[in-house]
Amino acid sequence: MKILLAMAASLMLACHSCVITTDRMEQKPLDSQRAEAFASGDSIRLYTLSNAHGMTVELSNYGATIVAIHVPDKDGNIENVTLGYDDHAGLASGKSYFGCVVGRYANRIAHARFAIDGKTYQVPQNDGQNSLHGGVNSIDKQVWTARVMNDAIRFTRTMEDGENGYPGKMQVTVVYSLRDDNSLVIDYTATSDQPTVLNLTNHAYFNLTGNPESTILDHQLMINAGFITPVDSTLIPTGKLMAVAGTPFDFNSPTAIGSRIGAEDEQLKFGKGYDHNFVLDKSNPEAPAAVVTDAVSGRKMEVFTTEPGVQLYTGNFLNGSEKGRGTAYQYRTGFCLETQHFPDSPNQPAFPSTLLKPGGTFKSQTTYRFSILK
Ligand code: GLA
Repeated sequence: MKILLAMAASLMLACHSCVITTDRMEQKPLDSQRAEAFASGDSIRLYTLSNAHGMTVELSNYGATIVAIHVPDKDGNIENVTLGYDDHAGLASGKSYFGCVVGRYANRIAHARFAIDGKTYQVPQNDGQNSLHGGVNSIDKQVWTARVMNDAIRFTRTMEDGENGYPGKMQVTVVYSLRDDNSLVIDYTATSDQPTVLNLTNHAYFNLTGNPESTILDHQLMINAGFITPVDSTLIPTGKLMAVAGTPFDFNSPTAIGSRIGAEDEQLKFGKGYDHNFVLDKSNPEAPAAVVTDAVSGRKMEVFTTEPGVQLYTGNFLNGSEKGRGTAYQYRTGFCLETQHFPDSPNQPAFPSTLLKPGGTFKSQTTYRFSILK
């Protein structure tokens, strides 16, 4: 503990964005009760990143999870803009993937089956006959090794060859860094000792109002995408691309999430709302993949990513069964922008490849940058 305290103190002197473990420390913005609530056994801890502008990000090494993101509104009120639980038990029993890293294959694989070099692999069927987010008890429900870095927390995890049916012993690293421009940067790296497939994302649910009882339907959303990968009724891509122009999927100009969500549209029916992968326009590497604003709080969130796609999910399965922050999270009170490779890519040769070979390193970066509407 002495070493931790000394490390935290020297980090505070050394940088503006400081990272400190909240474990049993008492001064603000550290919250000892919260640290206690999210601690479990010897190895599960809550970590807090904070910067010079009062933004804090709470992380758990259980599932490499974003537990909360606190950001100021236009009047300087600092509130949590994510849906989350109140303690470790919530994280451990949660079924909606609040804030965790999902893999090995984020999103769906048709019939929970794929082939590499002619060999077929069967992975868990946990979404009808398909596989979703790597199957049950995947990396979102595992304990990662945490390391406190300068302005960041690094989580690492080894996945065994054959774990949940996937080939290859894989090392995965996720680094969360908080910058002084209110950017939360997530860096993913992975290597494998055998050819395998992977798709990694963070599954944070956002509600920029700061009020988890308010729906996200009035948030204005821009997604820099001319196409989606349309799906069948089991949310598996058909393999075609669908132009968004003239459809409820056109978010190229900022549009309220709720303005067309109830439209007569087969894709919206299949998703029970938005639950679709957008094919990001990569022509301008500086451009955000997505921008979301909430006029009432004045909060703005920009999303940047090296990934080719983003899944817009509008909390269509939230039904009050998940609880936290003094509420039971209701239908459409959070939205996700899950940056990713396209769903079912292992079975879709025309999609960008998700194959990882031994000797290669998978690298991916996603940034959520918060600011105030001008
Ligand atoms: C993803 C999926 C959704 C749903 C959520 C979790 O976003 O695309 O269909 O499974 O995860 O509830």
